[in-house]
Amino acid sequence: MSTDAPAGTTHPGHRPGAPAAVQLVNVSRRYQVGGGTVYALRDVNLEIDEGEFVVVLGPSGSGKTTLLNMIGALDAASDGTVTVAGRNLTGASRAELSKLRRDTVAFIFQTFNLFPTLTALENVQCAVEIAGQRRGARAIAEKALTNVGLAERKLHYPAELSGGEQQRVAIARALATGNPVLIADEPTGDLDYRTGVQVLTVLKQQADAGHTVIVVTHNREISRIADRVIELSSGRVVSDGPPLGGGAAVADLRW
Ligand SMILES: Nc1ncnc2c1ncn2[C@@H]1O[C@H](COP(=O)(O)OP(=O)(O)OP(=O)(O)O)[C@@H](O)[C@H]1O
Ligand SMILES: [Mg+2]
Repeated sequence: MSTDAPAGTTHPGHRPGAPAAVQLVNVSRRYQVGGGTVYALRDVNLEIDEGEFVVVLGPSGSGKTTLLNMIGALDAASDGTVTVAGRNLTGASRAELSKLRRDTVAFIFQTFNLFPTLTALENVQCAVEIAGQRRGARAIAEKALTNVGLAERKLHYPAELSGGEQQRVAIARALATGNPVLIADEPTGDLDYRTGVQVLTVLKQQADAGHTVIVVTHNREISRIADRVIELSSGRVVSDGPPLGGGAAVADLRW
């Protein structure tokens, strides 16, 4: 709980009493490369509340994907502790980590990661079933594809879809799981303005419905719809607070 938060994990948007969805304490991720040490993340302290809409900004190589991978239990910290939905991932068993990936976190990857031999609908349905919802999985998947404007492409294979359409299948797949922590790596990167707005509308709806939404982007304009913006540079958090020109509706954004 936030009241027990170690020093350095409070933040400007914190609502007293709101449970922490994500907490990182003194987290570093190091790689040994050619005799030297590369820090992808260095001494990161963060607390993200349930229901917060957070945008993570930073130049290429600043550690954004590494941060998402920590939160999504796809990678482990070299130092420090990561807690997601009250579970400490440091020292967690493989079974506990896979349960977290199945029940708690929904991931929209920078590189889509769709199964090439499954249709759009099967890709989404499969994720719903893995998340434990066997009954009605197909209907849930169809609704999620409709929400991202892809009802008419549901029987296409990924290779038969444009980059933006594949991205939207990946988004539908994440949303359809219903998992409470939604993590998105450049979800609008390949999308035209109109489709980007459609995707952001869906992400914002998720946050408004109480999901925690963490979005990595290069597009600063998107941060205007967020509750909070975290900026990374060289693996460190260099700023953390409400967005400049915040409080915008998705329809107000221009890029
Ligand atoms: N497996 C690895 N071995 C060594 N260094 C790595 C490895 N993975 C990532 N890094 C380094 O860690 C740093 C952070 O990488 P990361 O992928 O998190 O950046 P990013 O902010 O997501 O960048 P982009 O905007 O280009 O996606 C980079 O300097 C990268 O080269
Ligand atoms: Mg990245």
